Amino acid sequence: MKSFAMAVVALFFCVAGMTAAADKAALMAKGQKIYNEYCKTCHQANGQGLGTVYPPLAKSDYLKNTPMPQIIKEVVNGKSGKIKVNGKEYNGVMAPLPKKYTDDDIAGVITYVYNSFGNSGPVVSAADVKKHKKK
Ligand code: HEC
Repeated sequence: MKSFAMAVVALFFCVAGMTAAADKAALMAKGQKIYNEYCKTCHQANGQGLGTVYPPLAKSDYLKNTPMPQIIKEVVNGKSGKIKVNGKEYNGVMAPLPKKYTDDDIAGVITYVYNSFGNSGPVVSAADVKKHKKK
């Protein structure tokens, strides 16, 4: 009986894990599409940034060291002012995200950036976006 209960518990965690992996894959696919249609213009195809104007997302220490709620706010509401990314100073303007993108879209694109270009970061959910996107 005890081993049956353990098997049920194990199965539960296995299914939960598979669901999480499927969610991540779906977010990554959606995020890649949005990255390529929107973010790529500035941050470039491999997230390497461009010159002294657009900072890199690839292996960005800023992305890694800034708490996720703030990253969500900046991507949604835009960001300007001096920042340092991988030792280089930038002082540009990132416009707010076009309103057509849903919380799910935003979760996808941030998850994509967090887990692409040599980065390894968290999975962002639509609920995280909803909670943190307000200024
Ligand atoms: C019009 C150009 C432009 C677009 C489009 C754009 N960004 Fe940015 N992004 C910038 C600039 C410029 C900065 C630096 C702002 C500053 O100097 O304060 C920046 C900064 C950032 C940062 C923090 C700095 C870093 O390099 O880690 C992140 C994260 C980021 N952008 C993610 C995104 C994502 C995700 C998208 C697409 C949803 C996107 N950006 C679209 C121009 C852009």
